Amino acid sequence: MAAPRRRLTTTVGIVGGGPAGLMLSHLLSRAGIENIVLEKRSHETIRTTQRAGILEAGSVKMLTDTGVNGRVVTEGHRHEGIDLRFNGVSHRLDFQDLVCESVWLYPQNEVFVDLAAARKRDGGDVRFSVTDTQVLDLTSDEPKIYFTDDAGEDFELHCQLVVGADGSQSICRKAIPADVRSDHFIAYPFAWFGILTEAPPSAPELIYANSEHGFALISQRSGMVQRMYFQCDPDEDPSTWSDEQIWAELQKRVDGPDGFTLKRGPIFEKMVLPFRSYVCEPLRYGNLFLAGDAGHTVPPTGAKGLNLALADVAVLAKAIESFATHGDHALLDAYSDTALERVWKAQNFSFWMTSMLHSRADQSSFERKRILGELNSVATSRFGQQYLAEAYTGWPHG
Ligand code: DHB
Repeated sequence: MAAPRRRLTTTVGIVGGGPAGLMLSHLLSRAGIENIVLEKRSHETIRTTQRAGILEAGSVKMLTDTGVNGRVVTEGHRHEGIDLRFNGVSHRLDFQDLVCESVWLYPQNEVFVDLAAARKRDGGDVRFSVTDTQVLDLTSDEPKIYFTDDAGEDFELHCQLVVGADGSQSICRKAIPADVRSDHFIAYPFAWFGILTEAPPSAPELIYANSEHGFALISQRSGMVQRMYFQCDPDEDPSTWSDEQIWAELQKRVDGPDGFTLKRGPIFEKMVLPFRSYVCEPLRYGNLFLAGDAGHTVPPTGAKGLNLALADVAVLAKAIESFATHGDHALLDAYSDTALERVWKAQNFSFWMTSMLHSRADQSSFERKRILGELNSVATSRFGQQYLAEAYTGWPHG
């Protein structure tokens, strides 16, 4: 007979130990609210998975003001603008001038490392490499999470609230019956081919380039390592591309009369990133609350994914605190609507940036010209630039 499950209790059971789950755990612990984080991947797997690299001002403030640490400021790079490049010409958007804000280039895996270290420092209960996670009794006053830890021991975790911060393949979201949730979804006919290269920066800030050959994004990581992407087919196999082919593809998308030339180096990582837009409504089912990619996915253009997850968590942490310390449900009841307001603004921004910067295989000459008209409208109007700058640097946290 199988050994009985070992029983654990806590106030908030958090499924998912990526940045959203860990930030929530950090904020709850600071407010004296017990919580346990369960993550199926190992610390090493998350640490070495490449994700986006841009943090909004509000995300940086969350990391520094709540005592995670200041590494984002000392080791990240403050960017005060981006280049929009089309027809081979760059147009700088000066975020400081437009909206008095900046963003920080600081990769998501570093945010994860910082949060995991802060949880460890503060005695947080974060269990990596758990298996067979199931969420149960979500509409009762005592939802449970079954899981097996990395030593093979079976547990049942009894909580008052469960938070699903378990990414786009969320088991928590799947536990919500289909007839009480709406899935809003669109697919795109392209993806991004992402590389890491050992080369000096090609430009001081990010370049978002539209060209007749498709989109390219020139980003950075450090003085010696750069991150770049170009639009590709969703079923592209990165292993079939030589470094030479990749550089030729990237270069032709940024070519222009200014002679801008990418600085090349050995490419040591290649991957294809899928594109989709998705929102689950509502972000609540009984005593289960969804945060981050578990509840919504954006295409990568504009790097909203992590920032949106942290914004959800800021709202949810306050709501849980009000419930756990005063027994007040009002903010929990408002969580889904409050978070979704920002989510839909970010969905619109990510969709807009994506459709304005990419090209489709079947694009008509009208559509190509219209897109150039749209880019011109943004780049040559202070109001157009300001809209982009405000959304890119992030609306204030509520
Ligand atoms: C990066 C990724 C993005 O999706 C983006 O819009 C900007 C930067 C990056 O990985 O550096």
